[in-house]
Amino acid sequence: MNETLTQESIAVEALESHYRRVEDGIAFDAAEDYAKLVTPNSNSSEPFHRWFHMKEAYSAGLLQQVVKDCGLDDVHRGLRILDPFAGSGTTAVSAAKLEPTPAVWGVECNPFLHLLASVKHEAMQVRPSGLVSLAEEVTIRADSRTTTPERFSRPALSTFKNKKYFPQDELRRLLALVDELDSLAKIGDDLKVDLLRLAAAASVEPVSNLRRDGRALRYWPRKDRAHAYREFLRRAQEMADDIDLCSAAANGRQLLGDGRRMSCIPEDLSFDLAIFSPPYPNNIDYTEVYKLEAWLLGMISNRDEFRLQRLRTVHSHPSIRRPVPTDSCIAIDGIVAPILACIEPGRYAAGLADMIQGYVLDLVELFESLACRLRDGGYIACAVGNSVHGAPGTGVVVAADVLVLAAARIAGFEPQRIAVARNLTRRKHGSAYLRESVCFITREGR
Ligand SMILES: C[S@@+](CC[C@H](N)C(=O)[O-])C[C@H]1O[C@@H](n2cnc3c(N)ncnc32)[C@H](O)[C@@H]1O
Repeated sequence: MNETLTQESIAVEALESHYRRVEDGIAFDAAEDYAKLVTPNSNSSEPFHRWFHMKEAYSAGLLQQVVKDCGLDDVHRGLRILDPFAGSGTTAVSAAKLEPTPAVWGVECNPFLHLLASVKHEAMQVRPSGLVSLAEEVTIRADSRTTTPERFSRPALSTFKNKKYFPQDELRRLLALVDELDSLAKIGDDLKVDLLRLAAAASVEPVSNLRRDGRALRYWPRKDRAHAYREFLRRAQEMADDIDLCSAAANGRQLLGDGRRMSCIPEDLSFDLAIFSPPYPNNIDYTEVYKLEAWLLGMISNRDEFRLQRLRTVHSHPSIRRPVPTDSCIAIDGIVAPILACIEPGRYAAGLADMIQGYVLDLVELFESLACRLRDGGYIACAVGNSVHGAPGTGVVVAADVLVLAAARIAGFEPQRIAVARNLTRRKHGSAYLRESVCFITREGR
C-alpha cells in the first residue's frame, strides 16, 4: 500500500515537474480580476446574453478587461477581433460596449450554438421590429393545430419519446411552433424567424423534466415547469425589449465552421486580437449537452448526423475516435508523453490517452491557423481550465493552460503570461495545476 502510494506520488511529482519545465520562463500571477470573468456569472441579467444560459460561457466583462490589459484600448480605430470558438456569442455581444465599434468574427461548429451567436449579433446590427406580433401570430396558428388531434412528427431522438422527461402536450406545442416557423422560413424574413426558432429551442429545457448537469442531461422533475406557448412568448418579448433598447453598434459575423481551421473567415482579414475559450479537456461533449435544441430544430435528424457532428468538435472528450497521423504525433511527443506515462492502466486509459493526444494536436492546428490570421504584434487571450482524470488522489491532472502555451510555441507564438483566475478545489487533489487561467500570447513583428 505504502509502496503504491510512493509510486503514485513519484508519478505526480514527475508530471508537475514536466509542467514546470514547459511553462518555465513564462510569467504567471494570481489574477483576482479574472476570477469572476472566466464564468458566465452575471450574463443572465445582461441584455442579449440572457437569451440562453450557456454554462460554459465566459463573462460579458472578460473582453473589456483583456482589451485593457493588452493595451488595445489605446487603438483609435475599430479593433478586429476573432473568436474561433464562439459558443453563445459572448465575445461578439460584449464588443458592442467598446468604442470605436470593433468588428468581431466568430466561428462555431455546433449548429444550435451557431444560431444562438449569429442571431444575437445580427439582431444588434439590424434591430428588427415586430418580433412580438410575429411570435403571437405563430402561437395562435400553432394553438389552433394543437387543439385538434393532428400528429406532429417527433425528432428521432429517444429522449423526446420519454413521457417522464417530456409531458407530451408540451412537446406537441413546441413541435407545432417549430413547424409553423419552418413554414415561415420558406417565405422569408430569415432573421426574425431565426430569432423565434431560438425562442422555441430555448424553451425546451424549461418545459421538460430535464436539466443540464455538467456533461449530461439529468431527470429533474420540475414543480415550476413552464408552459410552452407562454415560455416562447416570454422569450420573444425579452428579445424584443433588448433589441429596442440597444443603442450600441455592432460589426462582423458569426459563421458556422471549424475554429481550428477557420477557412470560413475571409482570407484578407487580419486580426488585432484573438480571444476565446476552447473546449477544455474535461470530457464535456457539446454535441451531447445541447442535443435537445439541435434535434428539435431539425439541425440533427439521425444517429449518423449526430456522430458526424461529434467528430467536428475539438478532441475534448473520449467519445471521439479519430485516426492520428504518426508524424504529427512525433511533433508533440515531448509534450504529451510524460502525461500519458502517468495514466493508470484500466478501462478508460486508451480513451484518455487518445483524448490528450488529440487535444494537443487540435491546439497546434488552431495556433497554426491563428498564425496566418493575426497581425504582427497582435494578441491572443485564451481562457482555459485544467482538469483531473481518474480516482481521487491518484488521477492525472491535465494542465490545459500549459498545453495551450506549448502548442502556441510550436506554431511560432510567444507566450507572455498565465493569469491564474482561480484555483479549482477537487476532493483529495491538491495540485497547484488545478486552476482556471487566461493565457496571454503575442505575435512579435516578423
Ligand atoms: C467553452 S465554449 C465557448 C464559449 C464562449 N466563449 C461563450 O462565452 O459563449 C467552447 C465552444 O467551442 C465549440 N467547438 C468545439 N469544437 C469546435 C470546432 N472544431 N470549431 C468551432 N467550435 C468548436 C463548442 O461547441 C463550444 O461552443
